Amino acid sequence: MKKTVLIIISLFVLTIMQAQTKLPVYLDDSKPIEQRIEDALSRMTLEEKVKMVHAQSKFSSAGVQRLGIPENWMSDGPHGIRAEVLWDEWNQAGWTNDSCMAFPALTCLAATWNPEMAALYGKSIGEEARYRNKNVLLGPGVNIYRTPLNGRNFEYMGEDPYLASRMVVPYVQGVQKNGVAACVKHFALNNQEVDRNLVNVTVDDRALYEIYLPAFKAAVMEGKAWSIMGSYNRYKGQWNCQNEYLLNDILRGEWGFDGAVVSDWGGVNNTEQAIYHGLDMEFGTWTNGLSEGKSNAYDDYYLADPFLDLLKSGKVNPEEIDKKVRNILRLVFRTNMDKNRPFGSFATPEHGLAARQIAEEGIVLLKNANNVLPIRLDATKKIAVIGENAIKMMTIGGGSSSLKAKYEISPLDGIKNKVGTAVHVEYARGYAGEKIAKQDGLTAADITDNRSPEELTAEACRVAKEADYVLFIGGLNKHDGQDSEGADRKELGLPYGQDQLISALAKVNKNVVVVILSGNAVAMPWINEVPAIVETWYLGSEAGNALANVLTGDVNPSGKLPFTFPVQLSDVGAHKLGDYPGKDYEETYHEGLFVGYRWNEKNKIKPLFPFGHGLSYTQFTYGKSVISAKSLPADGQLTLTVPVRNTGNKAGKEIVQLYIGDEKSSLVRPVKELKSFRKVDLAPGEEKNVAFTVSVDDLKFFDDTKHEWIAEPGKFTVYVGASSADIRSTVDFELK
Ligand code: BGC
Repeated sequence: MKKTVLIIISLFVLTIMQAQTKLPVYLDDSKPIEQRIEDALSRMTLEEKVKMVHAQSKFSSAGVQRLGIPENWMSDGPHGIRAEVLWDEWNQAGWTNDSCMAFPALTCLAATWNPEMAALYGKSIGEEARYRNKNVLLGPGVNIYRTPLNGRNFEYMGEDPYLASRMVVPYVQGVQKNGVAACVKHFALNNQEVDRNLVNVTVDDRALYEIYLPAFKAAVMEGKAWSIMGSYNRYKGQWNCQNEYLLNDILRGEWGFDGAVVSDWGGVNNTEQAIYHGLDMEFGTWTNGLSEGKSNAYDDYYLADPFLDLLKSGKVNPEEIDKKVRNILRLVFRTNMDKNRPFGSFATPEHGLAARQIAEEGIVLLKNANNVLPIRLDATKKIAVIGENAIKMMTIGGGSSSLKAKYEISPLDGIKNKVGTAVHVEYARGYAGEKIAKQDGLTAADITDNRSPEELTAEACRVAKEADYVLFIGGLNKHDGQDSEGADRKELGLPYGQDQLISALAKVNKNVVVVILSGNAVAMPWINEVPAIVETWYLGSEAGNALANVLTGDVNPSGKLPFTFPVQLSDVGAHKLGDYPGKDYEETYHEGLFVGYRWNEKNKIKPLFPFGHGLSYTQFTYGKSVISAKSLPADGQLTLTVPVRNTGNKAGKEIVQLYIGDEKSSLVRPVKELKSFRKVDLAPGEEKNVAFTVSVDDLKFFDDTKHEWIAEPGKFTVYVGASSADIRSTVDFELK
């Protein structure tokens, strides 16, 4: 009897204890996320909700303190985790634990044409973001390269929607494995920096859907990006951070996006549109809506007190705030409140190695006459290194992607470390550009040189004359008006008299190797005067090491261009048709679909270097392409194989590219378009059969009258090649 009473009492106590420790639904991660969202929402006051939809500091937004729902902390992006800034200022907060690994610029990543490198990049930068307690990484950027003058092209993935799509997906997935949201930017049509806050873009639906949107769509639908950033510019007369057509119709409606839409910093301009047009979080509005520059103006944001007032007065339905808070809670549950997410790591040797590998795979060997490269160290006594970019820090500057890097190996140091003491390396400046790079209170080393151009050239030529090799290391940099946010370049040519200097060097030494650091194409009037040209982008912390490994042949270059190098600006559609950068802030993309190589091919314009071009220290020969059938059934697939052989004596990687052209179509189409590629690793003498599949989706174009993707029956040509202009074989097939 006594025993039974004891059991009953114990059961009773246990039940009470369980009831007390039972988690509220929103904290119980065994419950479906949508149920948790609704539960959290039901516990929140209107004020708490409104606090969540706008910034509380430069890079954060409020959580719900009472409920233990954490704040959102964001960081740029996309090349490393930005240093901590003050609460309400861009200046450094002065932390000593925030020096990150600087990864190569996204143009370099795109130039690897290797989705595995994109996955490694995403994983590594995601780990850095996670360690620094950021739950949103402001990147990657996938705006299409429309003009070589765009100051921000270095933060994007080139001119081709297919290449950018294949590279963005693994980046996003890699970041998000860490419980950190990727915030894909800048959605959409932000293809220049001039007038970026005002320009209204007019583009036809075909170009929009076929060129400018696919990489965003892939990031959202395949990569499952948890957030996206609206762009500063306008489309159809509405600012894109509050653009009904882009955000409600396309992003949420057509693509089913369920993440959070974040405004670009200061990209919101109107409360009503911000409420109804699909935006969730307002950031960086440096205004009280009336005047610029009010400090701590967060309560005055369009989605702060003005929104709260409208809700309280009943002028706006509470469902409008709930929609936004749901999206933000979903973001928080996927990141900060995911108990299983890893802890991350920061500025580790592993991340250094990742940065170096990506850099090495992205460097593009543009020209290599007489196999002047790689440098034959055993037969070399002296190397002359000439040019400002050999010593200039490139991680500082360029705008919001500027970094406080743990270290940055300059090209000169990388080369010196590599060649050791056996080879004499002599440096001469050659030219002098801007003196000191600065950004947000961070200052690069002072490299002021007040000598005249004549003095600098004379010294450079003297140093170059006796050398076995001359490595000219120049190009652009991260100053305003070059590869930098907020302004575009003024011209295609190199700045600071570099063209004249290169020609002068070529006169005194026949082994001049020109190394260009840039995120953009540059004009090369001296192209026939020098035997070798290398495009090395901005490579981050491991820049010098990666470059030295490629120049000396320890790494065989395997990058290819993610955009066309035009001979002159008038060879670019946006410039030829004369509407760049717009008139009275109105700009029509008259070239439509014909961006990059699509423009060159349509108009039979020979580029300086074509899209997809890049050389190796070995040679690859392609056999004949073989297709599995002569006609593609509407629901089926074709297989195409091509044997590719390394006929040289060095192991190397070749990027085999597959383009498709529609022989006859009811609407105008490009001559051919990239539809697949493979990067294959081949030992000397090795041959691999590279296989591709072609499906009906690869044949489709966007029919703007029907507003759908269609494939028309008829003949198609498959082009297989080493670049868009170096086609090694073609085969035809028919769609019945
Ligand atoms: C840039 C964004 C960046 C944001 C925050 C804006 O000026 O356009 O790309 O993420 O600032 O720094």
